[in-house]
Amino acid sequence: MANKVRVAVLISGRGSNMRALIDACNEPDFPAQICLIISNKADAEGLIYAKENQIPTKIIESKNFSKDENGRMEFDKLVFQEIVNHKIDLVCLAGFMRILSKWFVENLTNKIINIHPSLLPSFKGANAVLDALKAGVKITGCTTHFVTEKMDDGPIIMQSAIEIDVDDNLESLAKKILVQEHKIYPQTLYLISKKLLNSL
Ligand code: GRF
Repeated sequence: MANKVRVAVLISGRGSNMRALIDACNEPDFPAQICLIISNKADAEGLIYAKENQIPTKIIESKNFSKDENGRMEFDKLVFQEIVNHKIDLVCLAGFMRILSKWFVENLTNKIINIHPSLLPSFKGANAVLDALKAGVKITGCTTHFVTEKMDDGPIIMQSAIEIDVDDNLESLAKKILVQEHKIYPQTLYLISKKLLNSL
């Protein structure tokens, strides 16, 4: 490994966390560099910022693959090939709305991290912010974790807690959580990258 960890970010849409990671990596002393952005959607908004930052992008449209195990594997193999081609050390999922196969995750054990908008293990799944609101909890937040075969599972790396106010709605709460996401994801990438560099 060179003096910086080579990172690929996988996105599906807005890409605001990807943006936070790119901005952090643009700091000269940051121990990681974003070398590749992969999107499973051709119109993902995040691709624009990636291009503005001269980061190679690759679109692999998941809609062209069946949702069964075979289709999943075919898609994941293309993603994996890109990761190998770009000599990627670490994969960051940032709003990547697709479940990865067991094969993919096992080939990259401890090399895939994710961010989720709740204090895991509470409120797994795609509606974490709404589910926390509906449950009436007074505190929620966001979590970074290593990715395993199970969705929104795997060892927790960092968390940030947020109080839910009585007048919070889905929009206001999601906004508050996102502010914290943009802090802990770069911090997590820093931490993991330093560890990776030291272990080699
Ligand atoms: C974030 O809330 C993240 O926690 C979740 O998906 C959302 C992605 O937002 N996994 P963005 O695309 O990074 O703006």
